[in-house]
Amino acid sequence: MSGLPLVEPPEPLGGGVSRPTQSPPRKTDRVGLDSLAGARGSTDGATPPWDDWLAEAAGAREAAGLTRRLRPRGADDGLVDLAGNDYLGLSRHPEVRHAAAEAAMRWGGGAGASRLVTGTLTLHEQLEAELADWLGQPAALAFSTGYHANLSVVGALADRSAHVVSDAHIHASLVDAVRLSRAQLTVVPHNDVAAVRAALAARPGVRSLVLAESVYSVLGDEAPLAELAEVCTEHGALLVVDEAHGVGVHGPGLVHRNGLAGRSDVLVTATLSKSLGSQGGAVLGPPAAIDHLVNTARPFIFDTGLAPASTAAALAATRIARTRPELADTIRARVAGLASAFGIPSPAGAVLSVPMASPEAAVAAQADLLAEGVRVGCFRPPSVPDGVSRLRVTAGAGVTDEEWERAVKAIDTIVGEVR
Ligand SMILES: Cc1ncc(COP(=O)(O)O)c(C=O)c1O
Repeated sequence: MSGLPLVEPPEPLGGGVSRPTQSPPRKTDRVGLDSLAGARGSTDGATPPWDDWLAEAAGAREAAGLTRRLRPRGADDGLVDLAGNDYLGLSRHPEVRHAAAEAAMRWGGGAGASRLVTGTLTLHEQLEAELADWLGQPAALAFSTGYHANLSVVGALADRSAHVVSDAHIHASLVDAVRLSRAQLTVVPHNDVAAVRAALAARPGVRSLVLAESVYSVLGDEAPLAELAEVCTEHGALLVVDEAHGVGVHGPGLVHRNGLAGRSDVLVTATLSKSLGSQGGAVLGPPAAIDHLVNTARPFIFDTGLAPASTAAALAATRIARTRPELADTIRARVAGLASAFGIPSPAGAVLSVPMASPEAAVAAQADLLAEGVRVGCFRPPSVPDGVSRLRVTAGAGVTDEEWERAVKAIDTIVGEVR
């Protein structure tokens, strides 16, 4: 997938009042489908043809300016790529590529089986040990995607009898995880610690999980992790922190920086597909929680183990990220410089979101930049929690200073014209 997060439109609860729902709120991520009343079914009981239904859905997307198309890119297209999530520029690092190639030659193209059958490789063990050591956690478990890691944590720890308190801006994978778990859900306004406290207090004695991202993907801001952890401790809740945009950009991540690594009531999920330039995910935390996931998490149990090439690439990238903190420093400097050029607050992550007047303006600016040799991303509904379309510019460490400066100049000119 493109890496653009598909975020559930928020259903925040005003004034910190907790309102549990039996199932997660209805969403509108299937753009256009909700307007297809005519194609949903006919009054005479005949099933409408699928072709008609698909054509109507495509028409509704087109009319809303929200059609998405896959745009395959070549391996070396000469563009300055500021659209991806390869924040540290490690996916093309020679050591990472060699590690992937060697692992493919040694182990084969795939892990060959699910982890509990014969798909656990010593390579997985090495990656898990190295990640746990870096992030200051007692144990880790690798997954085939970060999406699977999130599905697994919530699915294995929450059921109908559990209560999940979720920030309004969490990633689609956590939204889906809550749905699958069938847990009782309270969605709280973004970064509202008082609302989290109120939600937990409203259900004393109920096993509760609090979900947050250390750095929010679209808004780019940081979660108040220390306060959230304190509230969780007060109420005996487990804090689950998705560090997809924190690990690498902030060294071993913000859970670590906040002194929360290794706590028994904090679990971390991470992706290997952004700063670590590979593919896959991980969960880190107490051995008992990891053991529980191995034994009960369906997206782990019923999935083939992470491919050897991806595992080895992530391992090599982890070792580089650990020993080259200047890569993260480059990101911080670039993102701060670009944010100040646009007069917007500097995000905590590597991605700058530039608000645009409309989805059309965002798409036009993206196309103009492409013509100038610069690839940027574009967030449009439903991938934005507040309906505001944005250009998405990754201030990664993978481009040279000359490329970065050229790109910033083009962005400044083009966005200034169409914004
Ligand atoms: C916050 C967050 N969590 C989880 C994921 C899923 O990670 P992966 O791409 O490894 O499945 C993403 C990816 O976009 C993300 O942004």
